[in-house]
Amino acid sequence: PRDGAAMPSRGMSLPELHNAAQRCRACPIGHSATQVVFGEGRTPARLMVVGEQPGDYEDLQGRPFVGPSGQLFERALTQLGWSRDALYVTNAVKHFKFELRGKRRIHKTPAQAEADACLQWLESEIDLVKPQAIIALGATAARSLMRHPVAVTRERGQWLQRADTRPVLITLHPSALLRMQDGDKDAAFRQWLDDLAAATPYAM
Ligand code: URA
Repeated sequence: PRDGAAMPSRGMSLPELHNAAQRCRACPIGHSATQVVFGEGRTPARLMVVGEQPGDYEDLQGRPFVGPSGQLFERALTQLGWSRDALYVTNAVKHFKFELRGKRRIHKTPAQAEADACLQWLESEIDLVKPQAIIALGATAARSLMRHPVAVTRERGQWLQRADTRPVLITLHPSALLRMQDGDKDAAFRQWLDDLAAATPYAM
């Protein structure tokens, strides 16, 4: 098939979607990423967690949330008594967007057009995973899930409702916590746990 023609179609399984997304060039970032990083986890799952986009580690390993943000997320899961196996974990954008600085690949926030181009994959995952609730980690995920901008610092800890009626819990992205000053990190982590705890009934 033509490069840009890779798109989800009705009746595809998650592995088939993953395969098709590998070839997606609906936005430019697929050209420079190592590989697609598709969602993974339980299917169906009661609770889906949506991040922004893969980072450097995820791009190399092909799995979501395996780098520093993933480690912080796993720490939260342990504190909350949740198991990652019970969740489906994915990202709003499936390829890594970066800028080369010397040999370092510096994460760049995906453009709105890139998140919009990727929405077809996220919505296909939601159709197949059939979560009863979704957690949006950060503004990119919140906007893709809700189809409108969400003020994360104002709405955090709140449930919003999607057009399909699914509840979406808004909270910060773990990278926002990682960027904080050391002195602020512990309190911010506890507040993040408080936000996430609202989804505990779906995580068991
Ligand atoms: N940040 C994300 O949003 N997703 C990942 O998979 C890793 C880091």
